[in-house]
Amino acid sequence: MSGSEELRTGQCDDLKDKRAVVTGAGSGLGRSIAAGLSRAGATVGLLDIDAESTEETSAIIKKEQPIAQTMAITCDVTNETDVEKAFGALLKKWGGLDILVNAAGVAPAYRLVDLPVDKWRSALEVNLTGYFLAARAAAKIMIKQGNGGSIINISSKSGLQASKDNTAYNATKAGEIHMARGWALELGEYGIRVNSICPGNVFEGSKIWDREYIKASAKKYGIKPEEVIPYYVSRTALKCEIKGRDIANAVVFMCSDKASTITGQTLVADAGQVMVR
Ligand SMILES: NC(=O)c1ccc[n+]([C@@H]2O[C@H](COP(=O)([O-])OP(=O)(O)OC[C@H]3O[C@@H](n4cnc5c(N)ncnc54)[C@H](O)[C@@H]3O)[C@@H](O)[C@H]2O)c1
Repeated sequence: MSGSEELRTGQCDDLKDKRAVVTGAGSGLGRSIAAGLSRAGATVGLLDIDAESTEETSAIIKKEQPIAQTMAITCDVTNETDVEKAFGALLKKWGGLDILVNAAGVAPAYRLVDLPVDKWRSALEVNLTGYFLAARAAAKIMIKQGNGGSIINISSKSGLQASKDNTAYNATKAGEIHMARGWALELGEYGIRVNSICPGNVFEGSKIWDREYIKASAKKYGIKPEEVIPYYVSRTALKCEIKGRDIANAVVFMCSDKASTITGQTLVADAGQVMVR
């Protein structure tokens, strides 16, 4: 397969024999990333609070790649027992773990003065406690097996550049990047790399970008709901809409040996909106 063909299809063997787990795999970016890891040869554990959509992701992956190995597990990432059980089940089935991608996330869009405290608290729980619990479970397994590993926190460009009416999202997405840096320092001696990926706006398949969220964004920028996607595209340097597969490609790269000396870093995949200095 030529290099450009490989990039288009995502089919490669960069992650052959690797065992991965993706949280939030039932929808949007988590689903795209799980499919991308699988196309790169990994077996993939699919964790999500929504059982039906997680099974759907598994079926989509298997339809595309009949030999793919997946395991769908219903798991609330904010629940310590759920997370421990899920990683225990994966360990039992596959005997180890090489990759964790934290992607289960929520984005309550409110102005500061309107943000209910329960929405703030639930965003901290999913976006921070959920990332922490999954990383803790994965790190314990990776340290014990002694083969290194890769942990990716899916943050956001909002983790680097605050956006309006997004208090809880801004705080938690910045927190995810900083947690990853600390974990990289702690886990480096075990050969475990920890990095963040900051996607730009990805509308494809996202439940965050539902009708209400699009309406809130339109209001924020004084445009019509149908103008929201073209508006965000116009803000990118590349003038293109980012797709789930673009983010999956970035994750596959970061988890592969091609990135073997990259840890504690933040890779921005946003078609050129936020320039990291
Ligand atoms: N779509 C974007 O524009 C965009 C941009 C930057 C970053 N992100 C990040 O990517 C990730 C996925 O976003 P998306 O747009 O695909 O959203 P999505 O809502 O489509 O997917 C999120 C998934 O997380 C699951 N989830 C929510 N709470 C959970 C919990 N407590 N336990 C387990 N699973 C839970 C949901 O069921 C859902 O399947 C999030 O972390 C988000 O911050 C998204």
